[in-house]
Amino acid sequence: MKIYDAIIIGAGIAGLNAAASFGEDKEVLIICKENSWDCNTFYAQGGIAVPYDEEDIQVHIEDTINVGATLCNREAVEILCRDGRVAVDDLIDRGFQFDKGEDGTLHYTKEAGHSRARILHAGGDASGRCMHHFLMQENQHALLYNSTVTDLLIEGEICHGVRVYHKGTFRNYYAKNTIIASGGVGSIYKYHTNARSISGEMQGLILEKGGKLRDMEMMQFHPTVFIHNKGARKQLLTEALRGEGAWIVDEDKKRFLFEYDKRGPLSPRNIVSSSIFDWKKKTHKQVFLSLKNFEKEFFKKRFPTIYFNMKDLGFKLPADEIPISPAFHYAMGGIETNLDGKVLNFKNLYAIGEVASTGVHGGNRLASNSLLEGLVFSKRAVDNICSSKFNFELKVFSQEEEVLVKDGDKVLKDELRELMWENAGIVRKRSKLEQTLQRIDQILEGDIGKLLRLRLKTSRKIVKSAIYRQESLGAHYILN
Ligand code: SIN
Repeated sequence: MKIYDAIIIGAGIAGLNAAASFGEDKEVLIICKENSWDCNTFYAQGGIAVPYDEEDIQVHIEDTINVGATLCNREAVEILCRDGRVAVDDLIDRGFQFDKGEDGTLHYTKEAGHSRARILHAGGDASGRCMHHFLMQENQHALLYNSTVTDLLIEGEICHGVRVYHKGTFRNYYAKNTIIASGGVGSIYKYHTNARSISGEMQGLILEKGGKLRDMEMMQFHPTVFIHNKGARKQLLTEALRGEGAWIVDEDKKRFLFEYDKRGPLSPRNIVSSSIFDWKKKTHKQVFLSLKNFEKEFFKKRFPTIYFNMKDLGFKLPADEIPISPAFHYAMGGIETNLDGKVLNFKNLYAIGEVASTGVHGGNRLASNSLLEGLVFSKRAVDNICSSKFNFELKVFSQEEEVLVKDGDKVLKDELRELMWENAGIVRKRSKLEQTLQRIDQILEGDIGKLLRLRLKTSRKIVKSAIYRQESLGAHYILN
């Protein structure tokens, strides 16, 4: 029986950088639910935030903590910003090309909540795609595609590997260490910017195995999303647009955001999202992203993904205004880990990237800190694994599995998405949250497949955490 040094669930920046950090001599298996690019990293536009220089480390720390609304774990933030510069420089040394300005030096852009330009980008607005492509080209480990992890093979505090569903059969894969890097919860919301397969199942599994999720009420909604395209994943319009001059206006061209915060379009995204929501509700007016401050040739070169995607949808940019709505974007909450990514209550189980919660983002993530988190905390987890002396006797598990999907699950999944969007979204009401909790419990008692059950358990935790936190804080905005 083959025993891997590590199994990594997910091939976004955290998963692939973890694989790279192991080096060639370790036996590593990376498992992707669908294709390797079906991850949130691939769709990240804006870039990667990184301290500009030594002096900026402290400023980046403070910006992250200020936006994080009192909930950040300072130690995690210090690690992110201190190790962040090293991690990005290492990526550059490995050959990754960030965009440069006309003078040939790295071009740093600005996004909301940052007190200076410190966001590196690549391919204009294709930062995540370029980084993913680079990490895939670098990868020297086995990748298993179209494979859903249906169980963690856990006994006591030890994880022996995973059970995987692949092309109609179940199979167990065994490993000395298991790393969960499966991303957030996008598909449990009706409108989101995430990759299609990101649906919070691993978080539900962790709950069933006795692990903990924390800060689950802290769900981030990106303010500038075009939601009228077909398909579950909606078209993100990067925050870098606002950083470089885009405006948010209503149908009378009014820049109403200044009525909510003096920073206007550069306010942290929880403020921009809830202000758009409120303005639309109060005035019944449509809200737009205006790109009129950009010159066409510059725009096309700097934001090619948005230019061409929106062209396909009939928009002529930068001349046309784009109707926008906030949409679910990022989960600050996740599987509770220590600062080395180790899942609490387990000896050899790790979680990194968006699926994890070290407290680094607190109640609201500073824009473009997530790719940096993926790089920094994946390396720490692998360093911890490689320096650990933990040994255990492997146990063989049965390959029996429950039914994953049952008739009727699709309709219930759609109902869940609608409920989560309406009641556990940008602005929440206690009574609606309580109704949602009751309905989730009712569905959970019915005859449903395992995958829906795991999604429901994660959703239930989001709703319960939102009910529990009585005051508005960070991304959690509650009207009683
Ligand atoms: C964006 O490009 O606006 C997204 C950046 C992020 O979510 O950090």
